[in-house]
Amino acid sequence: MRKQIAAANWKMNLTIQQGEQLLNDIIAKPHDLKSHQLAVFAVPFPYLSMAVQKFAGKSNVFIAAQNCSNKKNGAYTGETSVEILQSVGIQYVVLGHSERREYYLESNQFLAEKLDICLANNMKPIFCCGEPLAIREANTQNEFVAKQLNESLFHLTAEQLQEVVIAYEPIWAIGTGKTASSAQAQEIHAFIRSHIASKYGNTVADSISILYGGSVKANNAVELFSQPDVDGGLVGGASLIAEEFVAIINALK
Ligand code: PGA
Repeated sequence: MRKQIAAANWKMNLTIQQGEQLLNDIIAKPHDLKSHQLAVFAVPFPYLSMAVQKFAGKSNVFIAAQNCSNKKNGAYTGETSVEILQSVGIQYVVLGHSERREYYLESNQFLAEKLDICLANNMKPIFCCGEPLAIREANTQNEFVAKQLNESLFHLTAEQLQEVVIAYEPIWAIGTGKTASSAQAQEIHAFIRSHIASKYGNTVADSISILYGGSVKANNAVELFSQPDVDGGLVGGASLIAEEFVAIINALK
């Protein structure tokens, strides 16, 4: 079975004390990760080491950065390289979140550079895609998302692409409490998989985990994750509440 993933995206929230307490609360609650299930915590940069240490020796739990540089190293003040992240034990990085695309003007081409540097150095990207409301209302979301995939991912080899986790996050559902229906999620996840298959073939497409993001909560996770092409979730708001996120982990297929 494809990897099923519950990924927490803390964004720019919580102090380190609050973050550590949240992780303690999550660890204390019963959750059972099967061998094909992963929990990932994308925490602010200064908390990465603390979070890595919390889960030391635990299999199937990984800490992720929320961004990385497109450059290898050097005079790039304020940036964090893949090598720096790896030196504190990080194996996953979220790339292309819609907030970074919107507020920091990250383009598909710029994200392709970040993907390249990650994949050349064994860092696993969680690549976000998804359309704004106007595109959904015009019913052109498939074309929009296909362009994001074409321009950021489709230069990769099949082996490289299989290291990527895709997170489909409709922008109109992020932080709004408005979730895509499970039918809407399934429809576009199936489209994403078929679009990958059209270039890389069915075996590659079937092996890639495609997460849904956008107001995933404990009360809708089971329904969303039960869809055949939804392989878990990238969770913002609800990942800041221990009971919610543990319930989301326990909702994985
Ligand atoms: P949300 O955020 O769960 O708060 O909608 C999801 C995300 O932005 O990754």
